Amino acid sequence: MRAVMLVGGFGTRLRPLTITTPKPMLPIVNVPLLELELLHLKDYGVDEVILSTGYLPDVFDEYFGDGSRLGIRLIHITEQEPLGTCGAVKNVEKFLGDDPVIVCNGDILTDLDISALVSYHNEKKATVTITLTPVEDPTAYGLVPLEPDGRIKEFVEKPSWDQVVTNLINAGTYVIDPEVFKQVPPGQNYSFERELFPRLLKQGVPMYGFPSDCYWLDLGTPAKYLKAHHDIMERKIEIPLRGNEISEMVFCGEGVKIDKTARINPPCVLGDRVRIASHASVGSLCCLGNDVVVEEGANIEGSVILDRAKIGKDCIIESAIVGKNTVLGPRVHVAEVAVLGDNIVAEEDNEFRHGIRVWPSTRIEAGKIRFYRTG
Ligand code: GDD
Ligand code: MG
Repeated sequence: MRAVMLVGGFGTRLRPLTITTPKPMLPIVNVPLLELELLHLKDYGVDEVILSTGYLPDVFDEYFGDGSRLGIRLIHITEQEPLGTCGAVKNVEKFLGDDPVIVCNGDILTDLDISALVSYHNEKKATVTITLTPVEDPTAYGLVPLEPDGRIKEFVEKPSWDQVVTNLINAGTYVIDPEVFKQVPPGQNYSFERELFPRLLKQGVPMYGFPSDCYWLDLGTPAKYLKAHHDIMERKIEIPLRGNEISEMVFCGEGVKIDKTARINPPCVLGDRVRIASHASVGSLCCLGNDVVVEEGANIEGSVILDRAKIGKDCIIESAIVGKNTVLGPRVHVAEVAVLGDNIVAEEDNEFRHGIRVWPSTRIEAGKIRFYRTG
């Protein structure tokens, strides 16, 4: 079976992390999201994936190459200009063949039963089948109301609250008969959600929704990026964790050194060669990348610290993200979904809260950033 994976977006809402790394290549429990997605497809018999890249395409190529390490055939096709979700698939039309193809948004963490989706598509003799998932706030997604027999009634992309008539949204995994791409204009920006799907519906083409109660998360924002980590560590979705389980739900890579006075609170994932100094406390719900250094007395909870970052003495990191190679001096406080990009140096006594985002390679002098609370 063949799939197309859409990974060309800029990941704007996940900046500054996506300035240096495209969203699907961001690590989730120390493995790029796309690797998890590809292995998930492979589990259901997908053996060839066409990667539709645009933004920072070399990062994908350097990491995956032809896919042989994962046991999957990968074809990389890069757009010069963004062609939109549907234009991107039109652009790889010659690779699609005649059989129904799976198309996936590349920013979704899910354990969707793809065999059940494909069987449903075949049973219904559908031309397009769209996986649907219930969400509390559909306004950030594409709303897809259904007829009682599962046929799609309409598409309302990014609805306002007064348009919300169902909690079922487009979950970003489709099965599509490649025939439909004949009517898509080549070389133009074209959208599935706003253009091709509504157009096919008007033509009376059989389009069905496949509601699923699987685990589903769109990794659009820093809060969702943290949530993905928390959910995996809380086993809401079954993703294998790397390393040895040194105590219940504490996973440790190779060459990790933990001082005997340090505390590791489960669940927690530590990459290779992580070093944790005396009286530091890490966890619960923390993921530290390879070569992360945690100095004396630092306290990290509910956070993701990417490769080679250094957390200084007595720092406090709570529900926050620290980018690759970023170095924090003593007593830096990072909390409340603050995001520090890659290669930052923040000297001692700075405070980052309230969703603040610091761009890569910034240098912040001692005590420059503070949050004063009123009342
Ligand atoms: N190759 C390529 N070219 N890929 C693209 C392009 C493009 O021009 N534009 C977006 N993508 C990729 C993104 O990288 C992402 O993996 C996927 O297509 C979806 O784009 P997003 O920008 O993340 O869309 P969204 O989250 O606002 O909305 C979409 O996903 C929702 C579910 O997460 C829509 O499909 C909604 O209807 C849906 O509910
Ligand atoms: Mg998205």
